[in-house]
Amino acid sequence: MNFEYLLARTELLFGEGVLENIGDKVSKIGSKSLLVTGKRSMSRLGFLDKTEGVLKKAGVEVVRYGGVEPNPTVDTVNRGAKLALEHNCDVVVGLGGGSAMDTAKAIAVLTGHWKEGATSIWSFSSLSEEKKVITPRTLPIVAITSTSGTGSHVTKYAVFTNDKTSAKPGIGSEFMYPRLSVVDLDIVSTMPPVVTATTGFDVLAHAMESIISTASNPISQLYALEAIRMVYKYLPRVYTKGDDREAREKMALADTYAGWAIAVSPPELPHAMSHPISGHYPDISHGMALAIVTPGVICLNVEKGHANILKKYSLIAQNMGRSVSASYNKEDALQADRAVKELRKRVDLDITLSKLGVTEDKIEDIAGDVLTCNRGAWKNNPVQADRKEIGELLRQCY
Ligand code: NZQ
Ligand code: MN
Repeated sequence: MNFEYLLARTELLFGEGVLENIGDKVSKIGSKSLLVTGKRSMSRLGFLDKTEGVLKKAGVEVVRYGGVEPNPTVDTVNRGAKLALEHNCDVVVGLGGGSAMDTAKAIAVLTGHWKEGATSIWSFSSLSEEKKVITPRTLPIVAITSTSGTGSHVTKYAVFTNDKTSAKPGIGSEFMYPRLSVVDLDIVSTMPPVVTATTGFDVLAHAMESIISTASNPISQLYALEAIRMVYKYLPRVYTKGDDREAREKMALADTYAGWAIAVSPPELPHAMSHPISGHYPDISHGMALAIVTPGVICLNVEKGHANILKKYSLIAQNMGRSVSASYNKEDALQADRAVKELRKRVDLDITLSKLGVTEDKIEDIAGDVLTCNRGAWKNNPVQADRKEIGELLRQCY
């Protein structure tokens, strides 16, 4: 068995009220911050003012950049980088869900490479003609998560949508690992049920996909199996009772474990399919898109996958409370599909593409984008589904 494992240099602060403790740490990283956040939640709940206060108290200047939309666009990143340059910011702080944190990470990349002639984050995408390389010039990043979640606070990725083509690719580099990562339970505890459910499903998807991915390795698998066990137990609990602090804590931990898992063993087909869905329909959240497509991919992989894939799905099923036989056969592996569907129902994510407003004529565009715009994740699936098969999978969830 051969594999590589890069340990990120991310300092993680986890627990109740830890936001209070970031001032000195950020002041050692930079002196002028761009503070990136989403539309309303963090300012409405007082966490934006609180973050600004903590930073200023430690002598770190703050320039605010708010209004980041779910499934952020290239334009949103580019405008943020211009602001950072205007104010000579030397550290970028993301406060919010994956959308705000990813925007902060992408702004850090673009701002750091502006002098080298980069004027759009798109030029760093593998879909661009330029294919610019991300270097240590990337500004240092601080990620404060408000969801549990994308794992973005501990990953090296950022995902954004091209406003013109609806392509939603990701970029990734070891220089994009946050220097400081903050999981404050007071912040994630404010998620309303629908955000708890969709982002919680994302955690499950990361954990499962990092195991099934052709890039899987034994270390990420440890994190991933534990994350699956925790999501199965605690997501329905925190969905029905948002003030269940123990369940919040476990979901925040599962998010972090699954983030570490995908950081080294990136996801596969469900993620490749979910991105073009949200790319074409930005109102469909990332987690919702995943909940729709995941069971179909499990069934395809069980049908066509080798014995080791059956074993992996059987282990996933076992961590979701199912009993499986020692032979890890097809029937055992399919228990993963049943467990995911059951969990999906319990958190009200049992929904179809048509109900969410996807029109039938878009199915082919989405299927095409899986193979072009999200090819990396598509390739990580152990079964190479062609465009026709992907179209069929999408029609099954229509
Ligand atoms: O915009 P605001 O007003 O902040 O509201 C947000 C948004 O409407 C709200 N929200 C977030 N935290 C809240 C809250 N409301 C109340 N209390 C809180 N504590 O929830 C809505 C969704 O937020 P968003 O940031 O879009 O959600 P999520 O965390 O799921 O992030 C999704 C983005 O992350 C990317 C996705 O593709 C998508 O663009 N991902 C990033 C990854 C990475 N960097 O490693 C990996 C993932 O697979 C994923 O692709
Ligand atoms: Mn995800």
